[in-house]
Amino acid sequence: MTKSSVSELFPYPAKGVEGYPTFLPYQPQSIGSLLDEKEYKQNVNPPKLFEPIEIRGVTFPNRAWVAPMCQYSADDGKLTDHHFIHLGAMAQRGWGSIMVEATAVVPEGRITPQDTGLWEDAQIESYKRVVDYVHALKGVIGIQLAHAGRKASTATPWDSRQALEGGWQGSTVVSEENGGWPNNVVGPSPISFLEGKYADPVEASGEYIQNLKKAFAAATERCKTIGFDFIEIHGAHGYLLHEFVDPLSNTRTDQYGGSLDNRIRLPLEIAEIIREKWDKPLFYRLSATDWLDDVLGPEKGKNTDKWAWWGIEQTTILTQKLADLGVDVIDVSSGGNDLRQKVQPAPSYQLPLADHIKQNVKNIIVGAVGIITTPTQANDIIEDDKADVVFLARQVLRDIDFPLEAALELGVAVAPAVQFDRAWGRMLVKRKNDDTPQQKHGVTEVQGEEGLKPKRGPPPELHSSIP
Ligand SMILES: Cc1cc2nc3c(=O)[nH]c(=O)nc-3n(C[C@H](O)[C@H](O)[C@H](O)COP(=O)(O)O)c2cc1C
Repeated sequence: MTKSSVSELFPYPAKGVEGYPTFLPYQPQSIGSLLDEKEYKQNVNPPKLFEPIEIRGVTFPNRAWVAPMCQYSADDGKLTDHHFIHLGAMAQRGWGSIMVEATAVVPEGRITPQDTGLWEDAQIESYKRVVDYVHALKGVIGIQLAHAGRKASTATPWDSRQALEGGWQGSTVVSEENGGWPNNVVGPSPISFLEGKYADPVEASGEYIQNLKKAFAAATERCKTIGFDFIEIHGAHGYLLHEFVDPLSNTRTDQYGGSLDNRIRLPLEIAEIIREKWDKPLFYRLSATDWLDDVLGPEKGKNTDKWAWWGIEQTTILTQKLADLGVDVIDVSSGGNDLRQKVQPAPSYQLPLADHIKQNVKNIIVGAVGIITTPTQANDIIEDDKADVVFLARQVLRDIDFPLEAALELGVAVAPAVQFDRAWGRMLVKRKNDDTPQQKHGVTEVQGEEGLKPKRGPPPELHSSIP
């Protein structure tokens, strides 16, 4: 054996994540979390977007969170390679929280046959693979548990679009032959979302409601086995729980219909069941308004005790009750239950709804969502105390590096993945003071080694059918 000419050989073994099935480099701290302010003076008094937040023992490394996004790419409810890459890529990029899309707790609760589901144990493994990977990178990941209600058994958006473009004029309801369940679409009342285009729902029986609660409980147990960090209950966008709370879609005469107390009974019961079993963070996403003021007048008319449609007043009452039973985060979205809705999409268009809840319900963390696309916009929302965290959806798909770019733009240094840090030299500048960005060879650190300013697209248009 020839002797090495190197004076002293490197004695340290490559550090991998212990217990991970393949070699995976160890990340010294959560990707997207602030680097030590002793070395990076710019991190003293950081922008609020980068303040970590701890909820029930789970530390979210920053407040730029990924909103749930259906991918319609599952196989019998199981996550596939698409999900592993889609969610895994987010974990590599420093988001403060990642969420698996609307996941059905019963098969007939899927929007499309390609939705994710967690109604049986055989599905657990496919989720665990993703969750283990995100945890190996020190990321935080949860899941949105859902039931699509009367909007179930439809085709994927791209299949529907192609069919429409090809001249199809029929419904979007998928036949049994193609994996759908047109005769088993369930809602609070037999009122179609759109006659002829969506299914005619069957009214959920008392027994169905009892079984549904059990299904949410069983899915929660599976979430424990998988190791999720949080659960979000999907109560928005015209899916089952929104349909129950809304007088327009719920005309029941039993204890789940009629008065406000009755309409909000099912979401509260489900939240309570999950809260009993689940000691980690619990979120609830709701639609805070049907946007029908211009069409139907006020949410509750003068001189009447009848609520006409679902709006911010009832939302605030529901949120207070959710907070009192231990829900930690309210994720404030809107719309989706009535096609007459008049929405005016614009940057932060749903923020006044989140702000209203923030000002009126004190014992809950408030998340804002909806056309939040730039770092200053996201940070200002939190600095101005209009919400505690921000959820981004489409911007994640356009600009997966948003958290690191936001750190750069807001002038702080956060941890990139060790494998990627060569691309982030412009952010990883050890400033001696915390004010102006440094210059190196006449180029500021924001322009970076490449001498370019980061590019950002114009604000997006609203997605035509937001799930
Ligand atoms: C592709 C896609 C899939 C979505 N899937 C879900 C979902 O599974 N659950 C949900 O509550 N909202 C879903 N949404 C809505 C988003 O979470 C978000 O509320 C909405 O897109 C507005 O945020 P944005 O302007 O940042 O995109 C989806 C949106 C998109 C674009």
